[in-house]
Amino acid sequence: MKNITVIGSGTMGNGIAHTFAQYGFTVSLVDVNEAALSKGLQTIANNLDRQVKKGSITEQVKADTLANITTYTDLTAGAQNADLVVEAATENPDIKLNLFKQLSDICGEDTILASNTSSISITRIASVTKKPGNVIGMHFMNPVPVMKLVEVIRGYSTTNEVTSTIMALSRHLGKDPVEVNDYPGFVANRILMPMINEAIYTLYEGVAGVHEIDTVMKLGMAHPMGPLQLADFIGLDVCLAILNVLHSGFGNPKYAPCPLLVNMVTAGSTGVKSGNGFYKYTPGSKELVVADKFNGES
Ligand code: CAA
Repeated sequence: MKNITVIGSGTMGNGIAHTFAQYGFTVSLVDVNEAALSKGLQTIANNLDRQVKKGSITEQVKADTLANITTYTDLTAGAQNADLVVEAATENPDIKLNLFKQLSDICGEDTILASNTSSISITRIASVTKKPGNVIGMHFMNPVPVMKLVEVIRGYSTTNEVTSTIMALSRHLGKDPVEVNDYPGFVANRILMPMINEAIYTLYEGVAGVHEIDTVMKLGMAHPMGPLQLADFIGLDVCLAILNVLHSGFGNPKYAPCPLLVNMVTAGSTGVKSGNGFYKYTPGSKELVVADKFNGES
């Protein structure tokens, strides 16, 4: 494994590209336009600066990491030499299925095709490719350079050989991979999203305010972020999409998304990326300020 193609330069894609490049892989970062790619590269440079300041890497490692990344807007040019493709495009089934169909034509027959999807079925993604045995889930956690977990998801047809290769590769990146089977939400989001949804219901029903709910979970359960702050960090639209996958995949009403979450996403309050969610976010400020809408609630 030497040439890694990462598709998508958003939050997850740039973190995945950063991590592979830091560990010496040649990374081709693909996105639909130059603006998205330069934003992704800028984020990688800023996060590398953060690591240099903390003393966890040297200036030389930063320079080498950036030199290992080449950007492409053309999928064929960016993916044709890949040993492994990690897709981290928008969490939309049509976009992902279309991408994997194209990748199956562009890439060599030994190329492993991985998806960073947080909830879309790997078996379904694999079904549009010529070699479903080579398709696997590689679910990194945000922020990718920091979080140790890779949830490695075996689709119905994923081979043992491909699974062992991806487990070993994840360890090579300094991660602790965990192998799971392909059912809705896998493990991470099957457990995380009901907790976040319940926190939103707790707010919706007026049991407690935003600050109080997050404080209970931070100080009482030693979570680094409360569930409402974490939902903002993940993106409320992403949380809603995952809950919908759990709800329709299991047909169980316990996964039904809270109406408050649905309203917030419909109104464009999607969390950190929109500047507003349960908290409001000002660029450059680390202060956690409860959004106006929820001020005074308890
Ligand atoms: N790139 C590189 N380094 C980063 C970084 C980034 N993007 N973000 C933070 N860091 C580093 C910092 O430099 C710092 O390093 P040291 O430990 O060496 O000092 C460390 O991470 C901690 O950062 P901070 O001190 O700035 O802030 P913090 O202590 O509040 O930690 C956090 C930040 C790691 C994000 C922490 O708040 C946390 O763990 N939050 C929960 C994250 C989580 O649950 N992620 C999973 C989300 S779910 C998901 O991703 C999948 C899904 O399908 C929905």
